[in-house]
Amino acid sequence: MSHLVAPSLLAANFLKLADDIEMVNNSDADWFHVDVMDGHFVPNISFGFSIISQINTIAKKPLDVHLMISNPDQFIDVCKDAGAYGLTVHYETSTHLHRTIDQIRKAGMKPGVVINPHNPVNLLSEIVADVDLVLLMSVNPGFGGQKFIGNTYDRISRLKDLLLAKNSHALIEIDGGVDTSNARELIKRGADVLVAGSFVFKSINPAQTISDLKKY
Ligand code: DX5
Ligand code: ZN
Repeated sequence: MSHLVAPSLLAANFLKLADDIEMVNNSDADWFHVDVMDGHFVPNISFGFSIISQINTIAKKPLDVHLMISNPDQFIDVCKDAGAYGLTVHYETSTHLHRTIDQIRKAGMKPGVVINPHNPVNLLSEIVADVDLVLLMSVNPGFGGQKFIGNTYDRISRLKDLLLAKNSHALIEIDGGVDTSNARELIKRGADVLVAGSFVFKSINPAQTISDLKKY
């Protein structure tokens, strides 16, 4: 499988959101990456589920919803109703992660788990077989436009080994500071999904930038 590119709407122009969604619809992008922040788990607030429902009315590609919130269990059904295709929750935010993953799947979405840059990938050894997606944060979550953390390359390699050892078919997704200077190495190490916010939406020709990220 060639890798997927998921532009993060966090970096879109919210005054012209429909235009940015149309651009992604007509681009080589595979998914929309949709970041939900609560000002509690992360020190920032983005947007909520009513916005996602509206995005979903015109988005022609799957919504990859990344929850950066405490108590994600409370919002599983709401996410499904809002149109989420995939739903990823942070490892630290769920006390009973296996149950959370199970509930996401039962609700009809692809479950995923996210770990922060300081978390060893082995933390996921008993859950990788149950998820469809593992998201490795390559910045600390909460803001777009941050600098990519170089240690991510080795973390992908270690995760790849873990997935193999556990016979997991989960996709590896990388989120934070992704651009054309690191995309090639990320793919080479085993990344399946590249999320890119600022690099896409702040570029002069976002559709071309998406195509550039697909090339590697
Ligand atoms: C950060 C979010 C990212 C963010 C990435 O917490 O999870 O999805 O939008 O933005 P860039 O690509 O600008 O680092
Ligand atoms: Zn994200």
